Amino acid sequence: MSINVSGTEGYAENAPALIEQWKSIAFAEHHAPVLHLIPAGPSDVLDIGAGIGTDAAAFAAMGHRVVAVEPVDRLRAAALALHSSPSIEWVDDGLPELDVLRSRQRTFDLVMLTAVWMHLDEDQRQRAMPNVTSLLRDEGLMIVSLRHGPIPSGRRMFDVSAEETIELAKRQGFRRLLNIQTQSIQAANLHLGVTWSRLAFIKERQAHATVGASLAFA
Ligand SMILES: C[S@@+](CC[C@H](N)C(=O)[O-])C[C@H]1O[C@@H](n2cnc3c(N)ncnc32)[C@H](O)[C@@H]1O
Repeated sequence: MSINVSGTEGYAENAPALIEQWKSIAFAEHHAPVLHLIPAGPSDVLDIGAGIGTDAAAFAAMGHRVVAVEPVDRLRAAALALHSSPSIEWVDDGLPELDVLRSRQRTFDLVMLTAVWMHLDEDQRQRAMPNVTSLLRDEGLMIVSLRHGPIPSGRRMFDVSAEETIELAKRQGFRRLLNIQTQSIQAANLHLGVTWSRLAFIKERQAHATVGASLAFA
């Protein structure tokens, strides 16, 4: 599917090298800034742009049920070979529409958007945020990381600000829990000056049920 999904440029072509590079990234180190927010009890986790499944595997090991979305066939195949688990379902789908997932009408407690949101242009980001929101339960958590710095050659990437992302999320009823800047944990990217915005949001409970009830008794 990846040829039709914008944002995936450069990933299939460089899959062998990327798979080797990403294998050495440890979940606990990568996600240290947000670990305290991850639900302790078994939850439904959606990992969008899941790459080779390092995070999906870590969530499965914590007892969560995971749906991992990855549009690049070669990365999905590598993920399945590396982290086969009955707790992980792999789905070939892509932002901004997420048509396959939305057609299933399933919702989640946690949505991870790790190093993927900045592959979307402004129009796609505006379309994607309501779609992602519709997949999250009330009081569910959305964790986002945005890459800043030089763009790897052949990749489609934009310098997306934390402020824009917070504003888009706010319009969909999210409350911000976290907004911090970190350095890259990968030596080569650290050397290039790559930094990350780490954001987390909670989806506020909607009040529509109460409005309906008061109208019924008016
Ligand atoms: C930098 S990698 C991050 C992979 C993984 N989240 C991680 O942190 O290890 C970005 C991933 O997003 C995927 N991707 C790119 N554009 C996408 C889109 N429009 N929808 C969903 N995934 C996309 C790529 O194929 C790639 O696997």
